[in-house]
Amino acid sequence: MAETKKLFIKTYGCQMNVYDSERMGEALEASGYVTTQTPDDADMILLNTCHIREKAAEKIYSELGRMKAHKVNNPDLKIGVAGCVAQAEGREIMRRQPAVDLVVGPQSYHRLAEMEAKTRRGEKALDTDFPIEDKFEVLKNRPKARRAPTAFLTVQEGCDKFCAFCVVPYTRGAESSRPVQRIVDEAKDLVERGVREITLLGQNVNAYHGAGIDGNEWGLAQLIWELDKVDGLERIRFTTSHPNDMQDDLIEAHEHCSKLMPYLHLPVQSGSDRILKRMNRSHTAESYLRLIERIRKARPDILMSGDFIVGFPEETEADFQATLDLIEEVRYGYAYSFKYSTRPGTPAAERAQVDDAEANERLQRLQALIFRQQMEIQQSMVGREVTVLLEKPGRDSGQMVGKSEYLHAVHINDCTAQPGDLVKARITEAVRNSLAGAMV
Ligand code: 5AD
Ligand code: SF4
Repeated sequence: MAETKKLFIKTYGCQMNVYDSERMGEALEASGYVTTQTPDDADMILLNTCHIREKAAEKIYSELGRMKAHKVNNPDLKIGVAGCVAQAEGREIMRRQPAVDLVVGPQSYHRLAEMEAKTRRGEKALDTDFPIEDKFEVLKNRPKARRAPTAFLTVQEGCDKFCAFCVVPYTRGAESSRPVQRIVDEAKDLVERGVREITLLGQNVNAYHGAGIDGNEWGLAQLIWELDKVDGLERIRFTTSHPNDMQDDLIEAHEHCSKLMPYLHLPVQSGSDRILKRMNRSHTAESYLRLIERIRKARPDILMSGDFIVGFPEETEADFQATLDLIEEVRYGYAYSFKYSTRPGTPAAERAQVDDAEANERLQRLQALIFRQQMEIQQSMVGREVTVLLEKPGRDSGQMVGKSEYLHAVHINDCTAQPGDLVKARITEAVRNSLAGAMV
């Protein structure tokens, strides 16, 4: 048995990175690493990075500057960069920050142990290939440690859509889906370790098209129905979806599959057809609204969430107004909104940029509207009965916190149940980012 070393992983960006960070931790267990919560005593620091907006990428270099200081007290410390910045910038990272020992792209995590060994020999390790072997297969043999009641499970990676603003097709590569059986096996393994709710992850999750159990290609709805059969798995979610891949059977699953939760993250980005076209989204505001109508017909109480970009090149006040109009019509329970950020190498980077102050002002207006909707929806929950999957004790004594079907955080006082339990609660109060409920 190798001596124990400490691994500190800092995760940026999306949920796929959260999942990948766990897998990286497991990949390095074989080399004698246990994860630690602080960089202070670490033998290896890994930054699992995000490249989606400029700010996210720039943050990495300032963080690397801080992490480098730990090498003064610990000359054996190795520093690595993983994730999408690693994929996009590769060796350039080591040039800009020579303290970096290792750079690994999202498709190469199964080679981490080898790469770590290389750094121990005093060499630099770099791998940003898109290899053909299944990285998840190599990473799967892990110990049966107890898990939290909720977990992520990556089922699909990459994107073929090429929205004009987005780096994902370049950093994560082409769409690829894991076979159904492997996903089901992983889900069963998670359930054995205490997981009750699984969120299926993919950059374009509803474009899932994996090898099915019968040898045919299966879509996301078929995968969900297969997971529905897993005893002990109580809840299924999936994210992130594209409007163009919302097939009928997936909409029907929202009507008939009781384990599938009534929450859907369906980014639209803009409400202006002119801008949507310039974004290469290949849907219109109208087709998006009709789609939501169909989804709500199948599952009337579904909570909608979305992503918005303001200040996309050439966006006028009228275009922006169309986005506000669309938001008014949809009524979102959650939304993520971003000011357009130029990504070198993407088509939109070459176009006339919107004035920064103008874009900031639009972002504020949009966020104010979203916030109002969010609060209205949370207020409308008061008096209603929800089912809460308890996750952990709350701040106050006797209090537990969990999530409702709609992904609202719910605090329950005087709660006698345990993490992992599903309890019925009546909502008594809506506060800024959560709800308070009482057990019924
Ligand atoms: N600028 C701003 N926001 C972006 N997103 C993706 N690329 C950019 C960009 N260049 C947003 C989109 C996407 C979310 C994950 O990030 O809204 O849905
Ligand atoms: Fe990026 Fe568009 Fe693909 Fe989403 S669908 S990952 S926004 S290119």
